[in-house]
Amino acid sequence: MDKGSAPATESADAPLPRLGRSIRREWLLEEGMIFLNHGSFGATPRRVLRAQQDWRLALERQPIHFMIDILPAALRTAASELAAFLGATGQDVAFVDNATTGVNSVLRSLRLQPGDEVLTTSHVYPAVGKTISYVCRRTGAVPVHVAVPFPCAGPQEVVDRVVRAMTPRTRLLVIDHITSATALVLPVHELTREARQRGILVLVDGAHAPGMLPLDLPTFATDWYTGNCHKWLCGCKGSAFLWGNPESEAAQSDIHPPVISHFLDENWPAEFDFIGTRDYSPWLSVPEALRFLQDLGGERVMEHNRILARKGALVLQSTLGIAPAAPESMLGSIITLPWPGTETPSDEMAQDLRRALWENHRIELMVLCFDGRLWFRISAHAYNEIDDYERLAEVLQTHLPSRPGVG
Ligand SMILES: Cc1ncc(COP(=O)(O)O)c(C=O)c1O
Repeated sequence: MDKGSAPATESADAPLPRLGRSIRREWLLEEGMIFLNHGSFGATPRRVLRAQQDWRLALERQPIHFMIDILPAALRTAASELAAFLGATGQDVAFVDNATTGVNSVLRSLRLQPGDEVLTTSHVYPAVGKTISYVCRRTGAVPVHVAVPFPCAGPQEVVDRVVRAMTPRTRLLVIDHITSATALVLPVHELTREARQRGILVLVDGAHAPGMLPLDLPTFATDWYTGNCHKWLCGCKGSAFLWGNPESEAAQSDIHPPVISHFLDENWPAEFDFIGTRDYSPWLSVPEALRFLQDLGGERVMEHNRILARKGALVLQSTLGIAPAAPESMLGSIITLPWPGTETPSDEMAQDLRRALWENHRIELMVLCFDGRLWFRISAHAYNEIDDYERLAEVLQTHLPSRPGVG
């Protein structure tokens, strides 16, 4: 299997490692709630928060010595540890606050020309879509959103559609590794290969991928890859990275963080390492998040999460009589399924349903509107158990007749 692809060999019947409720106290997650939306903002374990606090205290004890003498090397050490996890080299990894910032760094640095096309799909994360629109309207470049149907027939359908939309004017492909609303693991290797054969730059938005799928970034051969540490890696909020492929001429030169500071034009990643006085503890505590994940089982815990999400989806499908929206080969540890009710789809309705599940049943679930239909997205991390999905299925089945309040 290519690292970064949805593994094809697992079956939903494979045994789970010993995880689940017994380790939930590692997180601060409120007692009694069913947390099925790790994907949106992650959840940070106590020990990672403690490590973050230790860094904050170290700064406050010796503010000048820390910022000038300790911080630069500590950041590079943290970057090297993160890079090792990603199959990369520390020098090629710049910390950023989040995937949105990673995407902004690239898009706002590129010197797009009038008529250049920036290609993405209809599944692009809305904030990324807006960043594309912003840079295009300032430069005269043209955003191209290729429609990819959902439900999705398979990876080849995505490749075919995106490749058909590539033209001699396509300058950049912005592709999600795992789409947000529709939770599809996209065929990044194939898309990158096709793009690079045509001289198209590639930026992968891997917001969800680190900690969900094993990664070996150089194998993607993209120009840039940005990913969050605060989602599936369980890092602190505000920890993410931008990888600039050292093999790509464009990736590390003239790419700047959105905040310009002292180190403008110094070699990558110096410019990213200092962006003014701020709290650098989320980045510094990434190694503790890596150790936490490793102690849970490393790649085995990622596998556990993907298997559990599939088992959960099967429970929901059979209880509610709904169909899967994507083949197994495109699934990770978030899965989007059709909402079983008949509400008129709208973003407001989706929020009403989410809020009702929370207020009435203490279930945190993402409900969303995509392509004119309502969907819901489940997630699985190490603290979840199959009865979380059974409970959700029971609530949806029992209470749907009393919509829109879901009970
Ligand atoms: C595909 C994708 N890109 C970007 C983001 C933005 O992440 P962040 O808010 O951490 O910048 C998300 C968030 O869920 C996402 O799913």
